[in-house]
Amino acid sequence: MARMPVRFSATLVGLAACLTAAIAPSFGLDADRESWQPPEQIMDAVGVCAGMKIGEAGAGEGYLTFHLAKRVGEQGIVFANEISEGDLETIRRRAGREGVSNIVPVLGDIDDPLFPEKNLDMVIMVYVLHHLDQPIEFLENLEAYLKPGAPVVIVEKNHDTERTHPPHFMTRKQILDAVEEAGYKLERTEDFLPRDTIYIYLVDR
Ligand SMILES: C[S@@+](CC[C@H](N)C(=O)[O-])C[C@H]1O[C@@H](n2cnc3c(N)ncnc32)[C@H](O)[C@@H]1O
Repeated sequence: MARMPVRFSATLVGLAACLTAAIAPSFGLDADRESWQPPEQIMDAVGVCAGMKIGEAGAGEGYLTFHLAKRVGEQGIVFANEISEGDLETIRRRAGREGVSNIVPVLGDIDDPLFPEKNLDMVIMVYVLHHLDQPIEFLENLEAYLKPGAPVVIVEKNHDTERTHPPHFMTRKQILDAVEEAGYKLERTEDFLPRDTIYIYLVDR
């Protein structure tokens, strides 16, 4: 059997590793996450529909962002807010690669998402609340970007089942107290996810 030259096969291995790293954020990692945080079920539970204008605060590298963009479709839009320019660049690059045109990256302030529009149908925050340096101020400023009666959806890990040392996540009580202090009214929670609770708040203006 003919042998491949060592240098050529090493180049192939390197190329494969680079390709894997390049596609991991959009395929490999998300594929596993979808098993315990299924985006379609989450979007069904909170009422994401075609044509909606959604603000995603703390979008990270865009795990939910791209699912939201697909669901809201061409008539809808997703404003992907971040404090990290690097994460916004990752989203921008992936959107370009995949030809997604209804995601608008938005660089925010530490206490204000700075969404460019004030008539959003919904704001979603996945694993963001416990990362905010100024959660009360952030939530108080967030309200201005939503239509009256529009929901704010907060997805957070269940502290009691997902304990870390030192503690990283907020307890259910800490979440409820913080969001109430910012003036939001809890409409309901959804508890079907294995690791997370979905808190659905209404802006009452
Ligand atoms: C654990 S990550 C979650 C990212 C994404 N939502 C997800 O579920 O994959 C928390 C994110 O919150 C962002 N973040 C922290 N403070 C923020 C702020 N004040 N405004 C916007 N994003 C913020 C971080 O940059 C980080 O990307």
